[in-house]
Amino acid sequence: MITKPTIDRIMEVTDIVEVIGEFVQLKKRGANYVGLSPFANERTPSFTVSPAKGIFKDFSSGKGGSAVTFLMELEKFTYPEALKWLAKKYGIEVEETVENVENREEENRRESLMIVSGYAAKFFHESLLETEEGKNIGLSYFKERGFSNETIKKFELGYSPDQWEAFTGQALKEGYQQQFLEESGLSVKRDNGSLYDRYRGRVMFPIHSFTGRVIAFGGRTLKSDKNVPKYVNSPESEIYHKSNVLYGLFFAKKAIREEDNCFLVEGYADVLSVHQAGIENVVASSGTSLTVEQIRLISRFTKNITILYDGDAAGIKASLRGLDMILEEGLNVKVVLFPDGHDPDSYVRKFGTNGFKKHIEDNRKDFILYKTDILLKEAGNDPIKKAEVIREIVESVAKIPDSIKASVFIKECSYLLQIDERALLSELNKMRMAKAKKDSQQQISRQVVPVDETLLEEPKVLESKDDANQEREIIRLLLLYGNRVIDWDGIANTYIGPFIIAELSDVEFENATCKQFAEIYRSEVENGVLPDEQFFIHYPEKEIVDLTVNQIATKYTLSENWYEMHKILVSDEQANMKATVLGAIFHLKKQKVGKILENLRKELQTTTAEADQEILLNQYMQMKKVEKTISDYLGSVIIK
Ligand code: CTP
Ligand code: MN
Repeated sequence: MITKPTIDRIMEVTDIVEVIGEFVQLKKRGANYVGLSPFANERTPSFTVSPAKGIFKDFSSGKGGSAVTFLMELEKFTYPEALKWLAKKYGIEVEETVENVENREEENRRESLMIVSGYAAKFFHESLLETEEGKNIGLSYFKERGFSNETIKKFELGYSPDQWEAFTGQALKEGYQQQFLEESGLSVKRDNGSLYDRYRGRVMFPIHSFTGRVIAFGGRTLKSDKNVPKYVNSPESEIYHKSNVLYGLFFAKKAIREEDNCFLVEGYADVLSVHQAGIENVVASSGTSLTVEQIRLISRFTKNITILYDGDAAGIKASLRGLDMILEEGLNVKVVLFPDGHDPDSYVRKFGTNGFKKHIEDNRKDFILYKTDILLKEAGNDPIKKAEVIREIVESVAKIPDSIKASVFIKECSYLLQIDERALLSELNKMRMAKAKKDSQQQISRQVVPVDETLLEEPKVLESKDDANQEREIIRLLLLYGNRVIDWDGIANTYIGPFIIAELSDVEFENATCKQFAEIYRSEVENGVLPDEQFFIHYPEKEIVDLTVNQIATKYTLSENWYEMHKILVSDEQANMKATVLGAIFHLKKQKVGKILENLRKELQTTTAEADQEILLNQYMQMKKVEKTISDYLGSVIIK
């Protein structure tokens, strides 16, 4: 277990804006920062970071929490993993208590898979740099291709020895479990149950998640034998979903954000050469056609994609359709072709950084114009084919969400297609209408999906619909006002938090997390500590953090649009703290009493023995009195 002082130090130096800024483009808005949710696909930013509170709240997905929970959500880190990530970022030495150092067997599966992948990367990397075979075969190959030591180190390139069990044998010897070796795809099971290496005699390209952990591999053969597959890649696993990963993104994301553009290439070698040339905003789709997930991944960092193709015509045509998808996501797409026989890798090595940049500068074409060009050439003078081209182009343009941008394209296309602009516009509008109709239908079906609205939308009304709401209201008050001093008639010299806890000592919370929260609060108070917002934001249990953030980070407190409303609301409840606090306490009590009454009524209906009935009736009458007292009280304190 990581020690408390280490955790405290990490919390002290962690700047949530900086941490989240590594994954999400954030813009300052008032006291907060906003950006597009990394957890949902959205066009208007609803993802909010409050540096003052040290929390984020994503109003699209409902997720929220501290920098630590952010990393846990996004990267599926465990709590200690997230802490270690932060420690590494801020150069803090992690102290762990010996008896609890995480046991490999106790790690969850994902973690185990990442650990074994990280181990494999190290194994292959060392075998590249330190074994005779690796140096003679793998390293000399990489050198021949012009990769520097720095590039080899940075991307953790490796070599898998040309033996059946070199890696598997070593991994098993070091205690890595068969299950994870197999699931990660690093080892393959024979019929007799034993394992052998998937990668043999190949140069290895580890694939990193976009937070920098190794999750898969591509292994390239060095043989020219046509019967040997050029690349062997990791199979899909719990940590590797090919369609969600872009090769090189971890090393590129900073530059992508800074340059506000992402170069997209096809292969590992292209990424390495271009990156090595100092153009670091480059990622690869690794030979597959681009997926929506990959585009969304890029769009977290920039809205501009420049696709770098080698000039193979068949490939270009095949890719055209996929690209419409990028337009739909609202991204700007440019395309650059390389002369025959060249790919970005060979081009940058031959012509250098400046030659490469110049080629891009001179040949960059907007995707739609590029598509028009190609389709037109193909259609030649055939009028039917040309009509088809027009339809296709307008279809692409219709996918651009920004209508100003779309009309610029219409103008340019009308020139290229030699067609009256108005004809194109009318075609465009027809498609737009059809699309709007389809979207609104989708919207309706989307609305049916249940969302936990209780957390976000509801203004803080005192009379809530269910127990959990009422319980959460108590939690909210504890968080917001728990350490304020009470100064009401008859009650003074106490804090609101302990007061609420004491008042509710006869009430059992039903919601498990609320209950746990109240218990933590009580035990802290008993230890003489008044736990505050920060205490709960950094609490090591995710449910508690979630509850906390959901209570303090409502649209009213975090979003500018709602700010005015928030001011009114909060000043209202603060103006009459007594009504607010007592109201919440008594509403909850009333609700509990209501429950008891209901149960008693049910029992009365089913009980036949007279004696029992009398006892029940007695209890019932008493509870009714309690209810009446509470109601009277609520009536007198709360004006509404
Ligand atoms: N690829 C693959 N399996 C193959 C061929 C290709 O997974 N059999 C993927 C790899 O991710 C590769 C990319 O497609 O990087 C591009 O393919 P290619 O241009 O053939 O490979 P390069 O990496 O450019 O290899 P090289 O330049 O060494 O020939
Ligand atoms: Mn290549």
